[in-house]
Amino acid sequence: MNALDTVLDRSVIGGYSRLGYAARARRWSAKDPRPGSLADRTVAVTGATSGIGAAIAAGVVELGGQAILVGRDRDRADAVRASIRSRHSNAKVEIELADVSDPAQVTTLAEQLAGYEIDSLIHNAGVMPPERTESVDGHELSLATHVLGPLRLTDLLVERLAHSVDPRVIFMSSGGMYTAALPTDDIEYRSGRYRGARAYARSKRIQTALLPILADRWASAGVMVAAMHPGWVDTPGVADSLPGFKTVAGPLLRSAEEGADTALWLTATSETLPSGRFWHDREIRPLHYLPGTRFSEADRRAIWRTVSAAAGVGEELDKP
Ligand SMILES: NC(=O)c1ccc[n+]([C@@H]2O[C@H](COP(=O)([O-])OP(=O)(O)OC[C@H]3O[C@@H](n4cnc5c(N)ncnc54)[C@H](OP(=O)(O)O)[C@@H]3O)[C@@H](O)[C@H]2O)c1
Repeated sequence: MNALDTVLDRSVIGGYSRLGYAARARRWSAKDPRPGSLADRTVAVTGATSGIGAAIAAGVVELGGQAILVGRDRDRADAVRASIRSRHSNAKVEIELADVSDPAQVTTLAEQLAGYEIDSLIHNAGVMPPERTESVDGHELSLATHVLGPLRLTDLLVERLAHSVDPRVIFMSSGGMYTAALPTDDIEYRSGRYRGARAYARSKRIQTALLPILADRWASAGVMVAAMHPGWVDTPGVADSLPGFKTVAGPLLRSAEEGADTALWLTATSETLPSGRFWHDREIRPLHYLPGTRFSEADRRAIWRTVSAAAGVGEELDKP
């Protein structure tokens, strides 16, 4: 990170807005990722029916890859595919339907995705429920959507990913996680007044806290795992969940394509990237800015034990 980048990052508004994107993008090579870098590669994108996910899927196609749109709604997925094909008539775009907060649907999705020569998974589906809501199997919905479903899906697919020459798994996290401590005693948000933004930030904090464990867990399959923050992006999700923020920050918000940039870069760059790190605008970023959010290795392992049990995956890599 150079000095300007650090200043942008610490100023938050400067870094996460489209101003930060514009300042940083000036330094990036137009050839990274290089055109055609995803030729012969297949990338599954969850939450591909809207906002950043739809832009990531389009970007995969623009780089020559096959995109698998994972969505809950057939019509919305069809509309995204039609939009991509209107720009790229030969686009390789498939659709698989699943609610990623539902473990049974995730299991079926994994079976469907195993039918492709899959190279990368981008866990982009996101929610910010206004009131405490549970998944079909009784987990708080942002936890189920951002953590449990993605963990289960990746675990079920890891043997398939191991066939890829360069498998990559990306978690679409959020800078909102900087505001949250690791909720070691209450991952399901059962105590205290429920606030959607808080639940969201906690679940995104859990994603980033688990990165070293997931990097170890999937290393033998050759998987590079990363989490990232897309910046503040003008999407239907922001308009619905944070209308006040959209009104105030509107002119400063990034486009969906700008929000998709780091996910695409992490998926397609020819650079060898370290596994288990948190990224924003193509740079590794710290996991903490606020003193109250730091946690111990024991806390990390405690969260892992709870999360792996809730996701129905084994915790065998959790060495003391
Ligand atoms: N926009 C931002 O400023 C911002 C900032 C930081 C992080 N992010 C993250 O970026 C990701 C995309 O956000 P966005 O702003 O593009 O939001 P969005 O426009 O609301 O898109 C969210 C997508 O996730 C899908 N989804 C939600 N729950 C799902 C589930 N249980 N199963 C399957 N799909 C599900 C939605 O599907 P439906 O079409 O069926 O609703 C939609 O396609 C999220 O993870 C979000 O947390 C966004």
